[in-house]
Order: sequence, then structure tokens, then C-alpha cells
Amino acid sequence: MRTVEVTDSLQDYLDGLVPKRDGVLARMEEEAHREGIPIVDPHEGQLLYVLVKIAGAKRILELGTATGYSGIWLLRGTEGGTLTTYEMDAERARRARASFAEAGFGQRALVLEENARDGLEKLEARFDACFIDLLNSFRSEEITRRVTELCLERLDPGGLLMADNALRQGEVVAPNNQQAKNVAFYNDFVSKHPRLESVVIPIRDGLSVARVK
Ligand SMILES: C[S@@+](CC[C@H](N)C(=O)[O-])C[C@H]1O[C@@H](n2cnc3c(N)ncnc32)[C@H](O)[C@@H]1O
Repeated sequence: MRTVEVTDSLQDYLDGLVPKRDGVLARMEEEAHREGIPIVDPHEGQLLYVLVKIAGAKRILELGTATGYSGIWLLRGTEGGTLTTYEMDAERARRARASFAEAGFGQRALVLEENARDGLEKLEARFDACFIDLLNSFRSEEITRRVTELCLERLDPGGLLMADNALRQGEVVAPNNQQAKNVAFYNDFVSKHPRLESVVIPIRDGLSVARVK
């Protein structure tokens, strides 16, 4: 059976099931909508939260902070854990730090203001879960492969490797631009990797979820 088509009325129904957001998340959603900041939606945020909770993950790595919206969902799922997150846009990194502090995570969120690929090459910490939210931004499949390997090397068995935009608005079927090629490469790499068992969940633009064996 095909994935059900999400009509407007079905979307309204789903919107009615997603938990109400508190003041911080509601403000961030409103700002992202107004300013065109590309963040996950609350359905995907709730999915990230639940996945982190099920995995019992405490140490989270994120590539692509933006203003910290997904980071707050991830941190809430850790129940006392920490987030290390990369954002190379200085103004977004500043806003993310302020939002983490407002959400009560000032001491538990480390926003690293640099290119994630460069940062990961020298990062020595280990993690229980990793959320990649910048597949769209890499210049090549080779960089996509390297960054994915760097994330994987830092995850222990039982860890989660997740990536947003796994469907790339459907372009992964016949990729004709570099971003779509990166995402298609990532999906193929993860689905065939001997250390991973994975699935793509067709929520929003697609969330790839893989567990380290
Ligand atoms: C899709 S947004 C992240 C959204 C965020 N995860 C959320 O849902 O709230 C991707 C972010 O990654 C940042 N970015 C892109 N390439 C990067 C890189 N190579 N290193 C660090 N940050 C990068 C962009 O500036 C952008 O803010």
C-alpha cells in the first residue's frame, strides 16, 4: 500500500493531535515562519523527541542548529542530557544560544559556531544520537560521505543516526541538482551500510532514521 496522501483535512486532523507548544517553541515557530528560517515542524520535532526518549539517548550531536528549534525538542527528549550543535551563521548561533537559555538549557547546549565538517574532523566527544539537518548544503557527495562517516564514528552501538530532508521534495527519485544528489547518496549509503539498520519516515520532507548495530 502507498503512503497515504496528506490532504488538507487530514493535515488539520494531524495538527490537532500534535502536542501544544509552550511559549519558547511557539515564538520560534512564528519567527521562523515570518523570516523564512528552515526549521523542522512540530510533528517532526515530536518525532525527534520520542525517538531520543525511546533510545535513552543522553548525548546529542546536531549539524545545523538554525535558531535552536529542533535542538530544544532533542534536549527535552534526553531528560537531563546535553546537545552539541553546529551552526556557521553567527546571528543564528546567537539566537539559538538565547533560545536555549530561555528554555532552561543554557548549561546543557553547546552551540559551536563553525563549519560542521571542519569541526567534526577535530571533535573527540562521543554521542548517543546525531541529527543531520544540513544535507542540502554540502558541495558534493564526497563531502556528504565524509561528514556521515565522521558522525557514525562518534556513535556507539545502539546509537541513532537521523537526517532531515531525506525525500528532498521527491527529487531523490531522479536527482538533477547537487543537493538532491547529496540526499540520494546519503540514503543509499545509510541503507547499505553494514553498521546501520535504517528506514526513511515520510514525515514532512522525510526523516531518515538509522540505528547503529
Ligand atoms: C535546515 S537549517 C537547521 C534547522 C534546525 N535544525 C531546526 O529544525 O530548528 C540548516 C542550518 O545549517 C546551517 N549550515 C549550513 N551548512 C552548514 C555547515 N557546513 N556547518 C554548519 N552550519 C551549517 C545553516 O546556516 C542553517 O541555519
